[in-house]
Amino acid sequence: MATSLCCGLHTTPPGSPQLHQWKLSKKKGRCPSLNRVKSATVTSKLELSPLPYLMNSLEPYMSSETLEQHWGRHQRAHVESLNEQIEGTGFEEMSLEDIVVASYNKGDPHPSFKHAAQIWNHDFFWNSMKPGGGGKPSGVLLELIERDFGSFEGMLRELKRAASTQFGSGWAWLVYKANRLDVENAVNPCPTEEDNKLVVAKSPNAVNPLVWDYSPLLGIDVWEHAYYLDYENRRADYVSVFLEKLVSWEVVSSRLEMAMAQASGRGKQGDGNEEDEMSDGEAVEMYLDSESDDSDAE
Ligand SMILES: [Fe+2]
Repeated sequence: MATSLCCGLHTTPPGSPQLHQWKLSKKKGRCPSLNRVKSATVTSKLELSPLPYLMNSLEPYMSSETLEQHWGRHQRAHVESLNEQIEGTGFEEMSLEDIVVASYNKGDPHPSFKHAAQIWNHDFFWNSMKPGGGGKPSGVLLELIERDFGSFEGMLRELKRAASTQFGSGWAWLVYKANRLDVENAVNPCPTEEDNKLVVAKSPNAVNPLVWDYSPLLGIDVWEHAYYLDYENRRADYVSVFLEKLVSWEVVSSRLEMAMAQASGRGKQGDGNEEDEMSDGEAVEMYLDSESDDSDAE
């Protein structure tokens, strides 16, 4: 029997602070929450989500020309392509997040994956920034950063390294790793790390941490279209400015709070259901699609 990864319903835009709920199901290869999803998610065409700020409000660090191209052209193209591809298919009744995970298909992606994931990734990215961003986080987020990376500066170094070493197009992520999944026989970006901690990861093309069952807290777009108008080929400069002048640590803190609450809730749920879900010893497989490198010209 195939094992499927699936997640719960969401009615808020994927980029906004929210709790993404996962369940691991081996029952008939479909998400047990889909019945609930049907009543809460969009069954008509997806629309391009509006930016959470004015087009010129991130200047001089990210220009309105970049946003017009990046959001208004690249992301819009993904929305239009996804709508065309999923019309008349089972994906049409799913939430965007469910489409991302289902279409990833354990590393053998359906053609709609790159469009669904890039829509989700970009909504998440836009909501990770704010005018007057940057600075330093506080509270639980800072405590965990210092616990897991030694210092805030240590985390920044690791995140910048991931962003600068992602070959070709892709993303760098700060994530909360809280899965309980047996990832044996899988290509997992942080297989030796303990759970319930912050980790940095990078991913090629459209792949995002949802397919690893990680909770993304911050995503940096390192596709060339994200920075070439403002920084030409200087990716490292763009990443530094993003972290020093644009990132909203308040949003990242909110995402962490929800990820930890979700992990806690799932742990309690797992205490009662783990035997039912994992009892047949079937290996859970997760794969990282690192072979192909999509063109930056979307
Ligand atoms: Fe992008």
